[in-house]
Amino acid sequence: MGKEEKTSVLFVCLGNICRSPAGEGIFKKIVKEKGIDDRFGIDSAGTSGWHTNELPDRRMRLHGEKRGYTFDSRSRKFSSSDFDKFDYILAMDDTNYYDILELAPDVEAQKKVHRMVDFLQNLAYDHIPDPYYSGAEGFELVLDLLEDACGGLLQEIESQHGK
Ligand code: 4NP
Repeated sequence: MGKEEKTSVLFVCLGNICRSPAGEGIFKKIVKEKGIDDRFGIDSAGTSGWHTNELPDRRMRLHGEKRGYTFDSRSRKFSSSDFDKFDYILAMDDTNYYDILELAPDVEAQKKVHRMVDFLQNLAYDHIPDPYYSGAEGFELVLDLLEDACGGLLQEIESQHGK
């Protein structure tokens, strides 16, 4: 499959140090294990820019490692230019969702923005809760939800693109 046919996916949260780097790392692992990683461009960003260039939060990395994930992206701020670069933009909660939509240049760009929870297959949640001020259970919940939703997201992409 040619490079131009890649599907590009961007996970977005507030700080880009907890939820969205986890979404990025989980989705990367899923497509790698299926041997289809060459069909995707996968990245993450934060609406705030508060943690620019930082690695993911140590707690998020440790909880991820226990499940076999490596979260090693560097935080960056979401930018309106991301609408040109990505096909799917996944918001972790409603604040992220509306902050992203505010930067959309047109309706076509708006259509790229989705709530991550819309791809949940087995769990029922209306947002991916911010774990920053939570204990260990908050980080485990984020991983449970993202594993479930990443599977649903891949199914949706494959159904849309006939892959
Ligand atoms: P994230 O979590 O949006 O999932 O990366 C947060 C990270 C940092 C802060 C809030 C949420 N903060 O207030 O610095």
